[in-house]
Formats: sequence, structure tokens, C-alpha cells
Amino acid sequence: MRYQRPIGTQDVTPEIAPEWRSVEESFRQLAARYGYGELRTPVFEDTDLFLRSVGQETDIASKEMYTFEDRGKRSITLRAEGTAPAVRAYLENHLDRTDKQRLVKLFYVVPIFRYDRPQAGRYRQHHQLGIEAIGSPDPAVDAEVISLAWNFYAQMGLTGIRLLINSVGCPSCAPAYVEKLKQTLAPSLPELCESCRRRYVENPLRMLDCKVDHDRMAAAPKLVEELCDECAAHLQQVLAVLGALGIPYEIDHTIVRGLDYYTKTAFEFQIEGIGAQSALGGGGRYDGLVEKCGGPPTPGVGPGMGLERVLLARQQLGQTLPDDRREGTFIVALGDAVWTEALKLLQDLRLAGLKAEADYRRRSMKAQLRFADSELFAQAIILGENALARGIVGLKDLATGEQVEVARGELLERLK
Ligand code: HAM
Repeated sequence: MRYQRPIGTQDVTPEIAPEWRSVEESFRQLAARYGYGELRTPVFEDTDLFLRSVGQETDIASKEMYTFEDRGKRSITLRAEGTAPAVRAYLENHLDRTDKQRLVKLFYVVPIFRYDRPQAGRYRQHHQLGIEAIGSPDPAVDAEVISLAWNFYAQMGLTGIRLLINSVGCPSCAPAYVEKLKQTLAPSLPELCESCRRRYVENPLRMLDCKVDHDRMAAAPKLVEELCDECAAHLQQVLAVLGALGIPYEIDHTIVRGLDYYTKTAFEFQIEGIGAQSALGGGGRYDGLVEKCGGPPTPGVGPGMGLERVLLARQQLGQTLPDDRREGTFIVALGDAVWTEALKLLQDLRLAGLKAEADYRRRSMKAQLRFADSELFAQAIILGENALARGIVGLKDLATGEQVEVARGELLERLK
């Protein structure tokens, strides 16, 4: 009996882990520079948290959640997205009270679970690099989170990214727009795709981002032209700051996002060449969500960026990690008499924070050196019985082939 990983999941083996870690680390460092602190929430939450926040009629809530009953008969759902758990944790841990500026800035790197049809760039377990700025209605904060994502993609060496922006309005202007949209589309309803006909009833805004009827939606009324004064001014200010920061954007009235909590700003980062899934990341403002989750009225805004899609895009563009970085020390023990000494040295180096390895098969010196070179170790230490008796070891630079004698007692200092 051979087991296989579940469909739509990936193993991150030691071979590809450095690339994953490098992307995650770059994101962590950038987020920290912008003043965001890391948040880690449980892998599962109360199902109701997702239903209330994401919206019952969305694809995520209606058909993609991994929901089960635990042994205590509670309905549990694996993390279906990152924003609702962040808001729950914000309220539960009173993060607003500990923050003097009343703007709580959080980032996370977490797995997300969605039962979707797997294809290139779409998984049942994917990972998101997320940002949530909770507490400020200021359009400059929208621009900050967008610029963080934009600069992250640039740092990852990704080119050809389009930033698409829209405003989905607020409870005082969106409902009138939705009515207008329905009226306009009603006559052509029989010709629209099945999903549009369903959305017409359940979630009319989502008709706008239909892939099948995309061209027809060009004729639909545009939300940006129907916004209330406050939402219109907010959008203009977000765009003005993005302009000042030199971040190019395109207004796209079909960006409405697949989650119900968005208000005002909605945005997406797209890139060609990563399969059918062109959305590298996306997000928006969610000014009603904290209140919906039982807190005081509190605005928020953020993006979520798919980690796997960044890796795919980097691959497409040939932006993989340079694999010629040598690191660490390989200890070559010549003969059984020095083997124990080799093991002690191995531990000394590792405890001193250095990468070190030895050959437990104890092959010939030539075989060991060839192996150390192919594994990109920076140097080899050669332990011979006679030299060691004199307190001396050989230190070979594996890049240049140069070898010198070093006193055993000075070795650690030298390698550091
Ligand atoms: P989302 O658009 O559902 O937003 O997901 C954000 C990003 O996660 C997508 O743009 C994509 O890069 C990646 N992603 C989503 N689903 C998959 C999948 N099945 N396989 C691979 N990658 C995927 C949210 O989840 C919001 N919580 C984002 C947000 C943060 N809004 C405000 N703050």
C-alpha cells in the first residue's frame, strides 16, 4: 500500500524549501520594515466566523470550505482565508487597546484550505502572505498596503505585473448600484452563463468578474460612476497617493473580489504566464467586518498574496535562487583514529552556528572532497592522524582548491 498526498497539495522537500523560505523571509523582512507584526492564528476556526465574514453566498462559503464536526459536535472549518481570523484575533486579544496609534498592523504567512478544482497555480492547500491594517479609514493606509505588496513583488524580481483597482462602494451607495446593474442585465439574462444567472439572484456584483461573459460586462454600468461622495473622494485619494509613490494602476470596474466583506477599495495584482490563474494577489478595504465579528465599528484594509503563485511567476521569469552559493564546512576524517575527533569538531562548529557535515560512510578522501564540492560546501577540513597529533588540521577552500594548515585551536575563529 503506497499513500499519495491529497489532490491539490504539495510537498516542500529540502530541495525546494530554500526557495520557499527565501520568499517568505523577504516578505517578513519587508513587512517588518513597514511596521507590521506577525500574527499566527489556529489552522481551524469556528465555521460561523467564515460564514459571517466571507458571506454565505460566496463560492468559498458555499462550496470550498473544509468543514467538519469535531468530537465535541462543534462545526469547525480549516482556515479558508486569513482576514476573518485576523479580525477575530484582533478582537479577542484586545490588540486595539495595546496599540497607541490605534492602527494595528499585522502580517501572516499561513496555509489556506479551499476545496477548489486543482490546476496550475490553484491548490486545495495554498499559502498566503497576508497584511491587515486595522483601525484607520485613511486612504493613505490603502496606498500603504498596496505599495507594500507592489514593492514585495518587485523585490521578488517579478516584472509585467498589473495593479487593477476598483471601488465596491459602501452600504449607502452599493445597493442602488446593484439594483441598476440587475436592471441593465435583466434583458440579456437568458443569454448569460449559468453561473451569471445564479449570481444574478444570489450575488449580482460577482457577475462583473465572470470569465465567460467578460465582454458583455463592459457594457454594464460602472460602480466607480455611481459611488457616493465619500467613496468617490476616498478612491481619488488612494489613486493620488499611489501616483505620488510612482505605482502604476489601472481602474478596472470588473474587480469585485470573491469575498463579501469588501467596502470601497478593491484591488488585484495580475501577471501573465502562471496558467489560468493570473491573480498573484488581491485584497481591499473591509470597513464593516470588525463590527460584523462583534467589535466596535472599525475600518480595515489589506491584501493576501499567494505564495505558490509568486514561486510560479519567479520560475516563469527564471528568477530562481542562484545555486552557486557555497556555505559550510565538510569534515574529512582520514582513518578511524581521528573519527571521534571529527565528530567532536562537527558538534563544535554546529554549536558555534556554522553549517557542518561529515561522511558517515567514511569513503576515500577523494570521494569525500568530490562530494563536498558538489554539495557546494565552502571549505573542507582535513583531519589526518599525524597532523592532528601536532595540533594541526588542513583547511581547503573548495572554490579555489587552495589548502593551508591551521592550528586546531584557531579553527573556530578562522571559520567564523
Ligand atoms: P483571495 O483573493 O481569496 O483573498 O486570495 C488572495 C490570493 O491568494 C489570491 O490572489 C491568490 O494569489 C491566492 N490564492 C487564492 N486561492 C488560491 C488557490 N486555490 N491556490 C493558490 N493560490 C490561491 C483573500 O483571501 C483575502 N483574505 C485577502 C485579503 C487580505 N483581503 C484583505 N486582507
